[in-house]
Amino acid sequence: MSRPISVLAVCGTRPDAIKMAPVVRALREHPAFAVRLIATGQHREMLDQVLRLFDLTPDVDLNIMTPHQTLTEITLRTLEGLDRVLRETPAEVVLAQGDTTTTFVAALAAFYHKIPFGHVEAGLRTYDKYQPFPEEMNRRLTAPIAEFHFAPTETARQNLLREGIPAARIWVTGNTGIDAVQWVAGQPLEYADPALQRVLRHTGRVLLLTTHRRENWGEPMTAIARAARELLERFDDLLLLAPMHRNPIVRQSLVPILGDHPRAVLTEPLDYAPFVHAMRRADVILTDSGGVQEEAPAFGKPILVLRETTERPEGVEAGAAKLVGTDPARIVQETARLLTDPDAYAQMARAVNPYGDGRAAERIRKILLQELRSETHT
Ligand code: UD1
Ligand code: UDP
Repeated sequence: MSRPISVLAVCGTRPDAIKMAPVVRALREHPAFAVRLIATGQHREMLDQVLRLFDLTPDVDLNIMTPHQTLTEITLRTLEGLDRVLRETPAEVVLAQGDTTTTFVAALAAFYHKIPFGHVEAGLRTYDKYQPFPEEMNRRLTAPIAEFHFAPTETARQNLLREGIPAARIWVTGNTGIDAVQWVAGQPLEYADPALQRVLRHTGRVLLLTTHRRENWGEPMTAIARAARELLERFDDLLLLAPMHRNPIVRQSLVPILGDHPRAVLTEPLDYAPFVHAMRRADVILTDSGGVQEEAPAFGKPILVLRETTERPEGVEAGAAKLVGTDPARIVQETARLLTDPDAYAQMARAVNPYGDGRAAERIRKILLQELRSETHT
């Protein structure tokens, strides 16, 4: 048998791990691949939470995270670390997902070593350089480097074609995040988390809130918190669940405004499995997250997106998501409408899955096998 295809899979943040886990697992199940998992450690606790769940241990952990790290620091430390890894253990292909700085730098490091880069979740765009920041440019700068563009949707494929990426290098695979969420949703419910227990015991309605985007740091995030407080005051059966990102900036906005409310559950980031179960229990989801925008529609949960633009228009087009920005009056009005108007609620609460069917990782494996076997093993 020919030499296995050596793959370096790179992840650094929570969403990197969630979306790369299905790929790493699928490749490891096949004897044609030898996969090394490299964690940059751009996130620490939030990365480890996911790796534990998927039973993945990094072969190398660069452990780069520092409190209040800047984009430049993440970039420099990741580039140096990946350069070292690639010098010591060359690979036939480097893979990373999405739009984090870990991902852009993984593409750059691979390019400097003339190793083909495979971009999982390629082609998402807002065409606004600063929204989301720096993710839009992370994606755009990754595209010309990548040899393999694994686009989750046809819209993403069209974006790449418009930018001159050859059609033969783009494959529509679905989003590996849907593989991950389906797998987790199928696992037995884990009751240990006290925040999840409180939510599952609650007999009224549940509002789930996550916010972490750089564009929302400061005043916009404070406005989001004020809107959530007003909703709690207006609807006395409403429970707010807000798992707070580890970035201290997030809690600085949320805790002073919501911390003392008896129906506000402010908690550390939930492990992925309890979080998925919380999404399924929620009545309405308020978020500026990318991944949550993909997952919530699968469960038929109306999702109000706390952003001005989205690189995930499919959920909006399907009627499951609505862009509401960060104006508190608008957030309150749109959420209140969903909580009081059953027709408006029913219109958004249709389960749709424009982002994938749960088989993206399997497709990526097949493509890599076809492409790399014929190139390197004939
Ligand atoms: C990063 C990504 C963003 C992604 C988000 C997912 C970049 C530039 N940003 O943003 O695209 O949507 O992750 O969550 O790649 N921290 C901890 N523990 C953790 C994680 C973070 O303490 O497990 C704190 C640290 O103080 C760190 C700060 O959060 O300095 C910010 O982390 P960073 O990765 O720079 O940015 P995110 O906002 O998490
Ligand atoms: N998530 C989680 N615990 C939480 C909040 C979110 O596991 O407390 C998951 C969520 O289901 C999604 C992913 O984290 O899969 C999204 O990550 P995040 O919002 O941090 O980043 P983004 O997707 O915006 O880049």
